[in-house]
Amino acid sequence: MTTANEIREKFLSFFKEKGHKIFPSSSLLPQDDPSLLFTSAGMNQFKEFFLHPPKDLKRAASCQKCLRTADIEEVGRVPGHHTFFEMLGNFSFGDYYKEEAIKWAWEFLTSKLSLPAEKLWVSVFEDDEESAQIWKKKIGLPEERIKKFGSRENFWPSNALEEGPDGPCGPCSEIFYDWEATGQQGREEFCPDNSIEVWNLVFTQFNRDKGKIEELKNKNVDTGMGLERLTAVLQGVRNDFETDLFKLIVESLPLPATRYPLPAHYIIADYIRAVVFTIADGAIPANEREGYVIRKLIRKAASLGRDLKIESPFLYNLVPVVVKLAEGVYPEVKEAEKRIKETIKEEEAKFIQTINRAISILDNKKDINEKTAFELYDTYGLPYEEIENLVSQRGIELNRQKFIQYVEKQRRRSREKSVFNKQIFTKQDEKERAKKQGLPLLGVWGEEEIDVARNHTATHILQSVLREILGRHIRQAGSIIFPAYFHFDFTHPRGLTKEELTKVEEMVNNRILNNDAVERELMPKQKAIEAGAIGLFEEKYGEEVQVVSIGNYSKEFCGGVHVRRTLSINKRRRKQD
Ligand code: SER
Repeated sequence: MTTANEIREKFLSFFKEKGHKIFPSSSLLPQDDPSLLFTSAGMNQFKEFFLHPPKDLKRAASCQKCLRTADIEEVGRVPGHHTFFEMLGNFSFGDYYKEEAIKWAWEFLTSKLSLPAEKLWVSVFEDDEESAQIWKKKIGLPEERIKKFGSRENFWPSNALEEGPDGPCGPCSEIFYDWEATGQQGREEFCPDNSIEVWNLVFTQFNRDKGKIEELKNKNVDTGMGLERLTAVLQGVRNDFETDLFKLIVESLPLPATRYPLPAHYIIADYIRAVVFTIADGAIPANEREGYVIRKLIRKAASLGRDLKIESPFLYNLVPVVVKLAEGVYPEVKEAEKRIKETIKEEEAKFIQTINRAISILDNKKDINEKTAFELYDTYGLPYEEIENLVSQRGIELNRQKFIQYVEKQRRRSREKSVFNKQIFTKQDEKERAKKQGLPLLGVWGEEEIDVARNHTATHILQSVLREILGRHIRQAGSIIFPAYFHFDFTHPRGLTKEELTKVEEMVNNRILNNDAVERELMPKQKAIEAGAIGLFEEKYGEEVQVVSIGNYSKEFCGGVHVRRTLSINKRRRKQD
């Protein structure tokens, strides 16, 4: 049996031989694109290259960790749908185009992986005669196995022509594996029973800018092939959850008397992978953004566990299996194992406690209605689906619309309350303030400005130390800098222990005393990312960004003001600097 690990390796070495630079997967939490909650495609980390092809990089390949939440309800119910998945991809930035992309895809599938050619079908965009001809003439695929579809199916992103989003886009050609080589005609019959889409070859030839489609000077290639699906095909199973990527996880869950896994097993296996990988990359359960997705996945999985009659926390026990499957390829997951376990266990325990409280409230309530549901939601943060579940066990049906009205009313009330509550110094204010003060460091500064710069540099040192002591998941979640002190919020599943605090303090002080140089450099965004710079930045693609480095331990995107050497942070020593 070809293992998933072997397939991944074969893919990367095949494209390496074809002159591609192999890139490691970027984080699931995009560091440089605030519009994206999660990395959802292999091309995300290369997006800028399609618009501005770099001089020294023409071809790249990667296996990218991806997370998609759009089809979340489909997971476990139809084969080939996942929240977390790995995407194999090869990319050309203004270099090779349709012919090579198609030929290599074919060569890889039929020669390297030995898939029978007669089981492969392709689709092309209806206006892309060029690709259709390549499939026919260069590959020799019979015409009846080349299907043409419109922009919903064969343009990427789907419907980008008509609806967007803005950004690089283009026609695509997909390759399908037909389990039975049935020879059927329509796309509808392709999926999901007989055929499965394995590879999407996108010819990124346009840029969509505020709705206008412009032809790019350089033509690009962006391909994506789900490792899970390809593994299923090669291992001869129609269900990805039966491949070696999932089997151990599914088998770690108690099976029902029938001995066959239920959809719940598959959903849990899918969610736990998503949760483990995302926490490894720095997310923690929370009520917003990526943290909310993680919280929801953990709670849904926990609640499915209850359906399987597992009453106590169990998800965290799956972590070692997921880590074992991932560690050879994604060392960050192994590195974060303990923290991932702790985070999941805590979230599960909280959830069970909440459910138990809700049950006892419901037990003591005569009139259970949408208002009760809202109280449970508002006070205990229980998801609506779970409340609905508990209430329906008592034979009561809730009206979702009525429930939403309560939520809306509450939102209005809290908005009114919070008008006065706005921070005086938001991050933006701080940025503008920094910009205004962004005189060259040699300029004449007032005492207050210097104090702000001292504290600002200190936040960078603090972040570097936290990342070293607590792990690479630490991300700044906001900071406010005053002349006399600063706040620094960061993501971590629990409070710091006394020992950790002491260690942080010592290390920060050491770095200050070391009098390391603080350097600022303008560089293209992509170069900064490659150099390992961290931090959120909102500048547009292609712009130069400022990177502030301290010693050899800190490198951040930052437009703010800083001292020149770390010892200047120490007010008493500043004059000697
Ligand atoms: N970007 C395309 C996709 O996600 C091909 O990589 O399908």
